[in-house]
Amino acid sequence: MSDTTSTLPQRRELRTALPGPKSQELAARRSAVVSAGVSSTLPVYVRRAGGGVIEDVDGNLLIDLGSGIAVTSVGNAAPRVVERVTQQVADFTHTCFMISPYEEYVAVCEALAELTPGDHAKKSALFNSGAEAVENAVKVARYATGRNAVVAVDHAYHGRTNLTMALTAKAMPYKKGFGPFASDIYRVPTSYPFRDPEGMTGEQAAARAILAAEKQVGADQIAALVIEPVQGEGGFIVPAPGFLPALQKWCNDNGIVFICDEVQTGFARTGAWFASDHEGVVPDLVTTAKGIAGGLPLAAVTGRAELMDSVHGGGLGGTYGGNPVACAGALGAIETMRAEDLIGAAKRIEAVATERLRTIADKVPAIGDVRGRGAMLAVELVKPGTTEPDAELTARVAKACHEQGVVILTCGTFGNIIRLLPPLVISEELLLEGLQVLEDVLLAATA
Ligand SMILES: Cc1ncc(COP(=O)(O)O)c(C=O)c1O
Repeated sequence: MSDTTSTLPQRRELRTALPGPKSQELAARRSAVVSAGVSSTLPVYVRRAGGGVIEDVDGNLLIDLGSGIAVTSVGNAAPRVVERVTQQVADFTHTCFMISPYEEYVAVCEALAELTPGDHAKKSALFNSGAEAVENAVKVARYATGRNAVVAVDHAYHGRTNLTMALTAKAMPYKKGFGPFASDIYRVPTSYPFRDPEGMTGEQAAARAILAAEKQVGADQIAALVIEPVQGEGGFIVPAPGFLPALQKWCNDNGIVFICDEVQTGFARTGAWFASDHEGVVPDLVTTAKGIAGGLPLAAVTGRAELMDSVHGGGLGGTYGGNPVACAGALGAIETMRAEDLIGAAKRIEAVATERLRTIADKVPAIGDVRGRGAMLAVELVKPGTTEPDAELTARVAKACHEQGVVILTCGTFGNIIRLLPPLVISEELLLEGLQVLEDVLLAATA
């Protein structure tokens, strides 16, 4: 949390019922021309956003506890992002790095080499979206190892392209009807302390995963293991201590590329530059996107120089990958994270919000678990006294929060997780107000 430099008033204020009349007009226009396959959690149309607030076209001010799904960690329209992007747009918008390169791309790769886990020689390639980064990490791993098989875990989410749909675990809404999927993907159990047998250690969960992989395909056929160090869409699942180090050791011992997908967890979100840092693991390849560029579309694969250099020239890339405007956004976002100590801010959000969520959990028996790291926090809603997921209650709670002007997201394989991803620059006051609304809504919904 920090003093936001946004010019938007940092308060919640509802002038109309949500969605207001102008949002409803836009919704009518939208339904005529926008695919029904693209949905919106809260159909309130945005005019401006900054700090911890979203202003809609009807003049309502909403508390943002979602950051556009973990993207605007530095806040919307963060001044350093705006300044660099504005200058870049005026200088040039695109040449294609594969045709005539530019400094901004190189500078982003320098920052990635410095900030990502490990002090080995690292190189990067830049892309446009998280899914594209994951696809390319798998390409590099397959090329470098000469193997085909890829292991992913239960509850994984890696994107919506063909290969990343195959890596993603959940059928609805991500996969159903969209097959056939990429082949040679093998799914193994993860570590989910709330749902695993009582007392299961990280090492035991890793042994379970390794056994499943070796039985299905054999370690010597596996190019890569892809895993989120805190699972995002699957339910903000923090693995038991020791799970990731044991998997990394197995990868190292068997020539398997250990890929950490830090698309959602990266760039200060969890109270460290990367969530892998909390677990003491050093990925061979790390994928990043979302928080990297303050809202501009940018993604990266960063990893061991020998892996990243193993691919023939022209094997990686794309027309827009590492677009100069997006790179300028990244340089502005990284500068903001450093100057405003947003790692410290994420830790403070964790301290303040976890305490509040635990107090709420004491009053609401439907909260089965409170978990997360940094500003990536969640409550799992269940039938009281059981682990049976309560997706219906979760949807009702989220809807009621939205109606009261708090943008809150849900997730989870079973649709029963309320997740908090506030901008790291949100004020403590606004965060606590958002949590108060959540508490009031939960108490009313479970009364
Ligand atoms: C861990 C993880 N990987 C990959 C993706 C896909 O990123 P994108 O939506 O930018 O393609 C996401 C998006 O939510 C994600 O959370």
